[in-house]
Amino acid sequence: MSRSEVATRTFQVRDGETRRFDCTDGDTLLRAALRAGVPATYECNSGGCGSCKFTLSDGEVRQVQESPAGLTERDRRKGRLLACQSVPTSDCTVSLLVDPVDSGLPAPVRRRAEIVDARMLTHDLRELTISIGVDATFLPGQFAMLRRPDGEERAYSMSNLPGEGVWQIQIKRVPGGAESGAFVDDLGVGDRIEVDGPYGHAHFRPTGRDVVCIAGGSGLAPMVSVARGLAASDGAAERRLHFFYGGRAARDLCAGEFVAELAGELAEVTLVDVISDEVPPDWAGARGFVHEAVATAGLSDLADRDIYVAGPPPMTDAVVRLLVRELQVPVGQIHYDRFF
Ligand SMILES: Cc1cc2nc3c(=O)[nH]c(=O)nc-3n(C[C@H](O)[C@H](O)[C@H](O)COP(=O)(O)OP(=O)(O)OC[C@H]3O[C@@H](n4cnc5c(N)ncnc54)[C@H](O)[C@@H]3O)c2cc1C
Ligand code: FES
Repeated sequence: MSRSEVATRTFQVRDGETRRFDCTDGDTLLRAALRAGVPATYECNSGGCGSCKFTLSDGEVRQVQESPAGLTERDRRKGRLLACQSVPTSDCTVSLLVDPVDSGLPAPVRRRAEIVDARMLTHDLRELTISIGVDATFLPGQFAMLRRPDGEERAYSMSNLPGEGVWQIQIKRVPGGAESGAFVDDLGVGDRIEVDGPYGHAHFRPTGRDVVCIAGGSGLAPMVSVARGLAASDGAAERRLHFFYGGRAARDLCAGEFVAELAGELAEVTLVDVISDEVPPDWAGARGFVHEAVATAGLSDLADRDIYVAGPPPMTDAVVRLLVRELQVPVGQIHYDRFF
């Protein structure tokens, strides 16, 4: 069934005894729930993490991906599906997992929007500025689903702050990737794309604690947004920011421009650039993986800070393991979305 055929229909979804919501426009079950204010559990919105599993007791859904990584063989045998990959094709009765803590986040909206600026930040990381309207709010650290004309959707995080009328995203070209290369190389000012968001739970929380942002590769954008959120929050002048950014080579590193702009707003700003592979002979900074740089940074009070993490799954997993197991940071102070 094509997107345009589905767009004319609306299905009713019943979840448990009390919740009912509409599903329109060929939406996935997850997006329909979030648009209706139902705080369904999810993380990546891309089929990779498995956190949106649900069971279907009545009705029919079609699958966006045939074999999403987030669904195991055991899940399939037990009749579980992924809400972010299931598009209702009839009225449905489902059993969704919900997390009331996430009530009140901005509901995602799908829009067509125009690219109004574009620039290369490094040899393979491009920043696109998309005109979206001042009402299109989000929380620093959240992401949107972007689709080129005739392309497949991918998740990209905003790097700016809400209320500016634009969403700025930073896209890294993944070698062999189906979509990222086209976003980096083929789109330009004046092109229109589909933007659906905001999504994500790893958003800035103004708790009054100092903040550590830890990013690798494509994870720079949400960490820049979180850092900007901290600088714009009450009491910013007393807050300290420690920002780690890891790349394979010196030419991958570009966080300096963004972190420097916050120096006048915060009590202390520290940037640690980390190179893992092609370390120049005269490199005076950190070398190795990002989690190794965090471990050796000498931050004795990490357990008293809020820590935000973004990047490829192996990096995020290594950082979170270090923080929780070795550095005893309370889990509630660690916020991350893995980039499946
Ligand atoms: C919540 C969330 C937020 C994201 N935010 C950003 C962002 O701000 N900027 C950004 O550039 N990307 C971001 N991503 C990743 C992005 O959605 C795409 O997965 C990525 O651009 C690759 O798409 P592709 O079509 O080129 O690759 P695909 O064809 O989908 O995959 C090709 C191969 O690349 C691998 N791959 C996928 N993503 C990455 C990655 N990030 N690094 C290295 N290898 C990868 C895949 O595992 C696969 O093996 C985010 C992902 C999620 C889930
Ligand atoms: S949110 Fe559905 S698999 Fe990650």
